[in-house]
Amino acid sequence: MKTLLTKLTEAYGPSGSEGPVRELIRKEVEPYVDEIRVDALGNLICLKKGTGGKKVLLDAHMDEIGLMVTHIDKDGFLRYGTIGGVNPFISLGQRVYFENGTFGVIGSERVDDPKDLKTEKLFVDIGAKNKEEASAKVKVGDSAAFFQPAVCLGSRFVAKALDDRAACAVLIETLKRVGETAHDIYAVFATQEEVGLRGARVAAFGIEPDVGIAIDVTRTGDTPKSITMDVSLGAGAAIKVKDSSLICTPALRDYMVKMAQEKGIRYQMEVLEAGGTDSGAIQMTKAGIPAGVISIPCRYIHSPCEMVDLDDVEECVKLTVALCQSPLEF
Ligand code: CO
Ligand code: ZN
Repeated sequence: MKTLLTKLTEAYGPSGSEGPVRELIRKEVEPYVDEIRVDALGNLICLKKGTGGKKVLLDAHMDEIGLMVTHIDKDGFLRYGTIGGVNPFISLGQRVYFENGTFGVIGSERVDDPKDLKTEKLFVDIGAKNKEEASAKVKVGDSAAFFQPAVCLGSRFVAKALDDRAACAVLIETLKRVGETAHDIYAVFATQEEVGLRGARVAAFGIEPDVGIAIDVTRTGDTPKSITMDVSLGAGAAIKVKDSSLICTPALRDYMVKMAQEKGIRYQMEVLEAGGTDSGAIQMTKAGIPAGVISIPCRYIHSPCEMVDLDDVEECVKLTVALCQSPLEF
């Protein structure tokens, strides 16, 4: 799992530029699925055929937050806009990299009051001496991701893009372990979640599943003076009740709880007050689809140093496998 997580989190893939991470995932899942296709939004849709059960959509988004170049000035500094929710305080001093391998560091204009630190005050310095030199490496419209190697701290794993590559790992591992099932399992590695749940929306429309389950990270309330939230790192898979994008279908949510209890899987209930997931888009597809979410507790979400507990990741795999193998009658 550590090796897979390292590969996945170190892969490049800001929203709209998921090519490198998609190719990596394709290689991982190819031996375990019957069909693979990529749709117009770049979603990687993998089908593992069942024996006449339901159509189950399992979703993990493969895009990550990042930035996009909006302007290159005469001295070769790059101004940028954000891709997804990127906090300027977290960005300052970070290294970023482009798909072509160009590196840069994020610097700031002079700011006297920290409150004035806005994305507009920041720039990327790629070491270019002027606009010509910069333009030879990077163009307006190019995206960049944070650069940060993964590290393991005991059972805790720290990396960029654990949102949502930790879930991609859960989904890959599920496909490896699940074996023969009654249900058709559609594993969707979705694009553009961070800019508005866009990939999942069209994938769900095309598949029209009987059940949709997204796997994503969620926040925790277990760090010093953190938000008040009943989710902790290391306390097991989180079963979502609600976030800003959906109220999980109650019967499916209860079924997930029942399944966790039956299989002895450690779980906790999750109410996320700010933030959405692909299930929000899946649930509202066509005439409505029963939708739920399995969440991986994660600290420091949307920073280059997100942290998950490997035991939680394992519990999420067990729960996902158990659901796929169950009758899904709820
Ligand atoms: Co996110
Ligand atoms: Zn996410």
